[in-house]
Amino acid sequence: MYFYMPAKVYCENNCVRKHAKELASFGKKALIVTGKHSAFQNGSIADVQAALDDHGVASAVFNEVEENPSVDTVMKGRDRGIAEEADFVIGIGGGSPMDAAKAIALMIRQKDAGADYLYDSTALTDALPVVCIPTTCGTGSEVTAVSVLTRSNLRSKGSIPHKIFPRLSLLDGRYLLSAPRRVIADTSYDALCHLYESWLNTKATDCSRMCVDAGLKVWRRSRKAVYNGTDLTLENCNDMLLASMFAGIAIAHTATTLPHGMSYPVTVETGMPHGKACGYFLTGYLRETDPGETAYLLNAAGFADIDALEDHYRATCGRDEVPVPVLLKSISSTLGSPAKLALAPFGVTEAALYRIAGL
Ligand SMILES: [Fe+2]
Repeated sequence: MYFYMPAKVYCENNCVRKHAKELASFGKKALIVTGKHSAFQNGSIADVQAALDDHGVASAVFNEVEENPSVDTVMKGRDRGIAEEADFVIGIGGGSPMDAAKAIALMIRQKDAGADYLYDSTALTDALPVVCIPTTCGTGSEVTAVSVLTRSNLRSKGSIPHKIFPRLSLLDGRYLLSAPRRVIADTSYDALCHLYESWLNTKATDCSRMCVDAGLKVWRRSRKAVYNGTDLTLENCNDMLLASMFAGIAIAHTATTLPHGMSYPVTVETGMPHGKACGYFLTGYLRETDPGETAYLLNAAGFADIDALEDHYRATCGRDEVPVPVLLKSISSTLGSPAKLALAPFGVTEAALYRIAGL
């Protein structure tokens, strides 16, 4: 068993300003990588810029990261970072900007390399320092070395082989208060899938399960607020951020398994948000696993049984119909990934994947 999580994390109100000196310690100029709008509305960019200003560190903003960031966007961010002579990268937002920030930090260091470098498993992993500031509560990217990009030419999503941990992550629930409820619902489901998939996993260890237990405890505490659609409190937001963080640490050690693997074609083909797409397969996955383990996990998150979890999914995310050809693609692509299949704690058959897909 091993346990490795080198990212330094602060989770507290106003932590960007409180730890401004540390944030500013990574270089002379930061490339801030984010999406189009939310970081400007929730106050995170303003806090970061003020924190850097206070310590004489310059910054430039690259705010062109889309949902499920593409390799093309990463290369565009790389060009911007080189032009700005950035020497560290700050990713602000959900998983997309944070994942893009890691890949951009890698590519800024490889000035002459083409986009193929991103997926070259034999290439050196040498990246600028990365800081992550999550403004959603699902990805866990702030505590993992993973960067998932969309390869438009292959019509698929996939993690790059380079492992790039953030050096510092700053978690402040205030940045979630203004997020659309559908984003909170979607990302909190992503965190739940991470927790369950990490536990129900052949690579699970006592350490990874310790993180799952901690994550489920805080996820459960605020799940009803997400479910009910009532206004979220700062406490709810911090709970969901912590759940996401614990889930991220857990999957950094086990990886995700079938629901995530099956979700990628659904997101690429239909545009269904990531957490919702993973959740689509979660109850089916639980029905295939050991009943005792499933009961433990359901109880830990506050669900009486699988049907109660399904009700929660329908209420928070909504269960859309996914076209059968897309589900068949989910099944075939998962069957073609022996590494993913090996992580499921049961012998995965084609029939089991059909059941998980609801076919
Ligand atoms: Fe995920």
